[in-house]
Amino acid sequence: MKEIMLRIEKLNAFYGGIQALHDVDIHVPQGKVVSIIGANGAGKSTLLKSVSGLIRKKTGSIVFKKENITPLPANRIVSCGISQVPEGRQLFSHLTVEDNIRLGAYWYYSRRNHSEIKDRVKTVYEMFPILEKRSGQLSGTLSGGEQQMLAIARSFMSKPELLLLDEPSMGIAPLIVKEIFSVITRLNGSGTTVLLVEQNARAALNISQYAYVLESGKVALEGLPKELLDNPRVKDVYLGG
Ligand SMILES: Nc1ncnc2c1ncn2[C@@H]1O[C@H](COP(=O)(O)OP(=O)(O)O)[C@@H](O)[C@H]1O
Ligand SMILES: [Mg+2]
Repeated sequence: MKEIMLRIEKLNAFYGGIQALHDVDIHVPQGKVVSIIGANGAGKSTLLKSVSGLIRKKTGSIVFKKENITPLPANRIVSCGISQVPEGRQLFSHLTVEDNIRLGAYWYYSRRNHSEIKDRVKTVYEMFPILEKRSGQLSGTLSGGEQQMLAIARSFMSKPELLLLDEPSMGIAPLIVKEIFSVITRLNGSGTTVLLVEQNARAALNISQYAYVLESGKVALEGLPKELLDNPRVKDVYLGG
């Protein structure tokens, strides 16, 4: 049995007086891909932002590798080894591909020397060869799929142990979704644990070892991907019947 790397218990999250998550329990074992599927507005982004520290108004507990990270600010959480790829990518479109990648090492500049960063860029290019070809191009001129690759690559710069991915398939053609999901599988194969949130339930379930269904800010169902793929309710609501 693999150790639980991220343990979310009784998590409640709020926007002012509005509660967006209700007593959410989610466990992510080390080395696995865990996915959270849910419709628009279910609370998926809120969940990831709560883990990465972008949402501070919350109760419950989030423990990463035995450390209680619930009260920590986002910069401290990044340095614990958690990196989030935000919904909608949020690239610097007027900067080049390589500059965007280098910005992923931002939190490390104070502690690391430039040759280490150079080595890390090299490793990232080995994982994403298409980005090396486009290294000098302005990121705003990339295709949607390439921009998503770049957003993932930028997060991967900080050598995360846990990668949080917010709807990487959003707005991307089905053929390219396949490529992106195979990159996620490769990152996981190289030792990165992944927590993935997706509306594209089938694609997410296909690459996960465990999954949760989030509805109106609550965990409605959980199980092995093949159990969920066979679940009549999941089929009906999330897999198009
Ligand atoms: N900044 C915000 N202020 C108020 N309510 C918000 C804010 N962001 C999200 N919400 C609400 O929280 C709920 C969950 O949103 P979100 O986590 O973005 O869902 P998902 O990512 O699953 O689409 C929704 O009802 C949404 O309207
Ligand atoms: Mg979202």
